[in-house]
Amino acid sequence: MINFASDNVTGASPEVLQAIIQANAAAPRMPYGNDAHTDLIEERLSELFETEVKAYLVATGTASNALALASLAPPWGAIYCHEQAHIQRSECGAPEFYTGGAKLVPLPGAQGKLWPEALHEAIDRRDDVHRVQPAALSVTQSTETGTLYRPDEVAALAQVAAEADLKVHMDGARFANAVAALGCSPAEISWKSGVDVLSFGGTKNGCLSAEAVIFFRPELARNAARQRKRGGHLLSKMRLLSAQFEGYLAEDAWLQRAAHANRMAGRLLKGLQDIPGVELVYPVEANQLFPRFPSGVAQKLNQAGFLFYANMLEGASRLVTAWSTTEEEVDHFIAAVREAVAEA
Ligand SMILES: Cc1ncc(COP(=O)(O)O)c(C=O)c1O
Repeated sequence: MINFASDNVTGASPEVLQAIIQANAAAPRMPYGNDAHTDLIEERLSELFETEVKAYLVATGTASNALALASLAPPWGAIYCHEQAHIQRSECGAPEFYTGGAKLVPLPGAQGKLWPEALHEAIDRRDDVHRVQPAALSVTQSTETGTLYRPDEVAALAQVAAEADLKVHMDGARFANAVAALGCSPAEISWKSGVDVLSFGGTKNGCLSAEAVIFFRPELARNAARQRKRGGHLLSKMRLLSAQFEGYLAEDAWLQRAAHANRMAGRLLKGLQDIPGVELVYPVEANQLFPRFPSGVAQKLNQAGFLFYANMLEGASRLVTAWSTTEEEVDHFIAAVREAVAEA
């Protein structure tokens, strides 16, 4: 069976499992993050991002986004995001719940991206007790349609945000794929471009279940520890979550794994582009592809055991490659598409 449904259909990478095994074998440690593994993660992330950060590990991307936003927006705040944003479409109201009621304001934007002019126009600056007050901007990197924001694009959005006193959050569930594709440093595409808080994904790229909420401005993290506890994500065995990030960050595994996933997406793109009748709806810039297949082809492939979400956006299917995707899987899938299209 070949599964391109998402990059979380995979298990954990060997280096992450090895790090958990090592941490697990050690003598008993104090709970709730009072351990050497957890201390180390903040240090490692500070090195990686070339600035002193405050970092809080959680077990899901949803909690990571919701906690980040809870640090940026009051209950009467407005959080501007793309209409396709995961926080808007796929988190069951967790951001609203964790913030105590802040309002997400979804905005349209080509290729899954927000554009500065549209953001500028959308921000409702009226200081009116009847209206939610502008509080935050959230961008997804890489986006839900598999595209990328370049550093100057993030900076342009952050500039508009700053003018309206909005804090900037980045949903980086696939941040690693973005960094690998852009070839820039993690710092350049985050705080140097104006991002205040980053949800740095691990689970989709080799962790068992670990995500980091990274604050580039320590004052914004004032309540983060208590919010995480209230949100049920202060794990008593935090060291085993931290160990995952130890394995993930060591020897740039996070970046290498993401670069591999991107390469597999590139290979898939090359194969699909050569098949008449298959149209790519969005540019393929990281590890997600949105092909529109001729009628009936996606269903036929699904029935033949090739798993992916058909009819995901604009009539296109979604294919996601992962750290564990092999060239053989990609080639096998391309051959199956070619055959299914020929028979359609
Ligand atoms: C862009 C994006 N953000 C956040 C998440 C949330 O992750 P989780 O499913 O771990 O809550 C996902 C998961 O699919 C995602 O694609």
